[in-house]
Amino acid sequence: MTDINIQIDISRAKASSVGQAHGVTPQELKDIAPRVAEAHTALVQERAEKKYGFYDLYKDTAVLKDVKDTAAAFRDKNYENLVVLGIGGSALGTTALVTALKPPYYNLLTRKTRRGAPRLFVMDNIDPITFRQMMKICPPQKTLFNVISKSGDTAETMSQLMIAVDAIEKHLGPDAVKEHVVATTNPRGEKASLLHPIADHYGLKCFAVPLNVGGRFSVFSPVGMFPAAVLGLDVDALFAGCASMDARCSTATLEENPAYLRAAMHYLADTRKGKVMSVMMPYTDALRDVADWYRQIWAESLGKRVSLDGQEVFAGQTPIKSLGATDQHSQIQLYREGPNDKIITILEVKRFAKTLRIPEALGFVESLGYLRGQTMNKLMAAELKGTMDALKLSERPVIRVTLSSVDEHSLAQLLYMLEVETAMAGRLYNVDTFNQPGVEEGKKIARALMGGQG
Ligand code: PA5
Repeated sequence: MTDINIQIDISRAKASSVGQAHGVTPQELKDIAPRVAEAHTALVQERAEKKYGFYDLYKDTAVLKDVKDTAAAFRDKNYENLVVLGIGGSALGTTALVTALKPPYYNLLTRKTRRGAPRLFVMDNIDPITFRQMMKICPPQKTLFNVISKSGDTAETMSQLMIAVDAIEKHLGPDAVKEHVVATTNPRGEKASLLHPIADHYGLKCFAVPLNVGGRFSVFSPVGMFPAAVLGLDVDALFAGCASMDARCSTATLEENPAYLRAAMHYLADTRKGKVMSVMMPYTDALRDVADWYRQIWAESLGKRVSLDGQEVFAGQTPIKSLGATDQHSQIQLYREGPNDKIITILEVKRFAKTLRIPEALGFVESLGYLRGQTMNKLMAAELKGTMDALKLSERPVIRVTLSSVDEHSLAQLLYMLEVETAMAGRLYNVDTFNQPGVEEGKKIARALMGGQG
């Protein structure tokens, strides 16, 4: 399947639109093409060698079946709540999927309107006030907890699990733990995880995240797919979306490969035009958490002190999440008149699934006449165009990404494209995209301060 649900327009990030100092020139794109082709060859080879597993997660039909069967079995138990215990790459993908694919205010809907699916709480922090409150809102008897930790020793997640298991044992007894907890972690026998002995002790269902899939690249593994399936999202359509984008990204030709084109544009913008920040600004609430997910994958993958050949490079572009039209009244002043150090992605949906008409109300206020009888959809489109044009006037480079609709198929294409884009950008920066030594160090120090080992 190679249907195209995502359009990329780089014209407003080119020198012909925003000037040579801020926009990429045709020559610069031409000059980078051989490096992209070389990087493509390396990525293809390393993918074949199974160095990175994220590319092929969507092909694992056995895992998909297990995810769907297990989700169906837990769906039959009619839990009111699904609570994801996880942080970083173990949480952000699920949040992005659900914000995009479930209706707004999903947790406030009735069970019937939720089509029998549970409410979702993604606990990606250890704020004691928030966690206590969640435990009150989600009593153990009505709740399924999915503990997700690839390493299986992240202090934040393990402390959450300890509180959840303690509550289940106290209220329902130790035998009930397996009915209320599903674990997702490293594969058994390949790498140790504290979740293995815990799963063995209680007889928990335990999903594996392949060793060659990093946390921030794991959304299409059981990390994101099990919660998605429990919530009734169409995981087959998500995988079909990955397949479509994989096919589209199989060429090294910049004009045809949206991920490589965006990677090259961002790399050139950073290294040649001083655009040290990358803003992602969706013009739909549905995609607001995609910007948050992107913030992690771009930051953790590219923010590296040393290059692959051991040079100190301090690479990386600071990702910023933003939201249209909301942040027009918060950030656009800076983006237009502050330092010209950002490349901005405007992320839009071609057609909202629904239209909201602005009624002929407040007729006595003459100056609101321009809104009467219009639609909010049209107002949003006008705000987007207004912002794009204003940014152009200020010579700020913008890439426009348009989704035909927000559904499983398109969303998976978007996330998959951003994963491939990150892999290519890492190559261009010549850094190890897939490690995170800066994160590991902080984890170790925190554990030591708590009196832990290692
Ligand atoms: O992308 C990553 O590898 C990290 O952000 C991890 O997802 C995060 O640190 C959580 O780690 P773990 O899943 O091992 O608990």
